Amino acid sequence: MRVFITGGAGFIGSQMAARFLELGHAVTCFDNLVLGRREYVPSGASFVEEDLLNLDRLMRAMKGHDLVVHLAANSDISKGVEKSDVDLKNGTIATFNTLEAMRKVGVHDLLFASTSAIYGEASVKPTPENYGPLFPISFYGASKLACEALVSSFAHNCGFRAIVFRFANIVGPRSTHGAIHDFAGRLLKDSSVLKVLGNGTQQKSYLHVEDCIDGILFAWKKLMSAPAATDPLKREMFECFNLASLGVSNVKFLATTVATEFASAQRLSAVPRLEFGESDRGWVGDVAYTWLDGSRLQQLGWKAQLDSNAAVEKAVREIIKEKIEGAVAL
Ligand SMILES: NC(=O)c1ccc[n+]([C@@H]2O[C@H](COP(=O)([O-])OP(=O)(O)OC[C@H]3O[C@@H](n4cnc5c(N)ncnc54)[C@H](O)[C@@H]3O)[C@@H](O)[C@H]2O)c1
Repeated sequence: MRVFITGGAGFIGSQMAARFLELGHAVTCFDNLVLGRREYVPSGASFVEEDLLNLDRLMRAMKGHDLVVHLAANSDISKGVEKSDVDLKNGTIATFNTLEAMRKVGVHDLLFASTSAIYGEASVKPTPENYGPLFPISFYGASKLACEALVSSFAHNCGFRAIVFRFANIVGPRSTHGAIHDFAGRLLKDSSVLKVLGNGTQQKSYLHVEDCIDGILFAWKKLMSAPAATDPLKREMFECFNLASLGVSNVKFLATTVATEFASAQRLSAVPRLEFGESDRGWVGDVAYTWLDGSRLQQLGWKAQLDSNAAVEKAVREIIKEKIEGAVAL
C-alpha cells in the first residue's frame, strides 16, 4: 500500500510515517515545514516540501497513492488569537484541497485528525461523539469542525471511505506545542520557578502519541482492510471516533511532574517553585475542562495502554530528555 501523509514532518505525522514503514508500506510525507522538521521524516519515506494550499503540486504528489492520512494543520490553538485566518488557511482550506486532490487523482481512503476542541465547552462529560450542538470556542476548533463537515460531504458525494478521529491532547517526543513542551522550555530558561498560565485546575484528557498511532491503525485495519468497492455508492463510508485514554489530568499535576522530573534530570538542589495564575483558563480559546468519552472505539476492541496520568508521566520524561539534549547540542 502507498500511504500519503500530510504533516508527515510533524510530531504525530513523522511517527505515523515510521509505523507505516515498519508495517511494510510505502510512505510519502508532504509538509511545508512551517512547524515540522525535515530530519523527523524517517529514512525510507519520500518527502515533498510543499504547501497544501498549492493544489496543483498537491495533486501531482498525491497521484498513485492508496490512502491519505491528513494530519497537517496549524496545531497551535493559541496562534489563532494573533492570526485569525491561520486555521482557516492551514485547516479548512488545506483540508478542502486535500479532499479535492483525492477526488481528482482517484484516492478514496482517508484518515483525518480532528480534535476535542470541536466540542467547545461541552456540558456532558465524558463527552461522546454524538454530543451536540457543537459550538467551538477557538478558531482552531471551528476550522476542524468545518473540516469534519467537508470530509463527510466528500465521503457521501464522491464515495470516499473516511475515518475522523477526535484526538485528546496528544503528548510525547517531538511535540511542537502544549503545556509539557511549554513548561520544559520555561525551566530551561529559568530553573528556579515555573510560571503556569491559569490556576492549575484546568483538566484534560491526555493520550500518548504511541497510543494515538495504535488507535488510528487499529480502526483503519478493522474498518478499511477489505478492498474498496469500485462503485462509489457502495464504497462510501464515514466514521467518527473520539481517540482518548482513560481518565483526565489537571495542569497542577503536569506542572508538578515537569518540575520534579526536570530537577532530577538536571540534578538541581531544589525542585523549581510553582507559580500559578488566577484564571481557570490557560489562554483565550482554551477549553479549560475536557474529558473525552473513548468508549466507542473501545467497543470496537481498542484500548490505550496508558491512562491519562501515565501518558503525561512518560511524555514528561521524553520531552525533558529531548529538550535537555537539544539545548546541549546548541
Ligand atoms: N498534538 C495534539 O495534541 C493534537 C490534538 C488534537 C488534534 N491534533 C491534530 O493532529 C494533527 C497533527 O498534529 P501535531 O501535533 O503532529 O502537530 P504538528 O504541528 O507537529 O504537525 C502538523 C504539521 O503540518 C504541517 N503543516 C501545517 N500547515 C501546512 C500546510 N499548509 N501545508 C503543508 N504542511 C503544513 C506543519 O509543518 C507540521 O509539520 C493536526 O491536524 C492537529 O490539529 C493534534
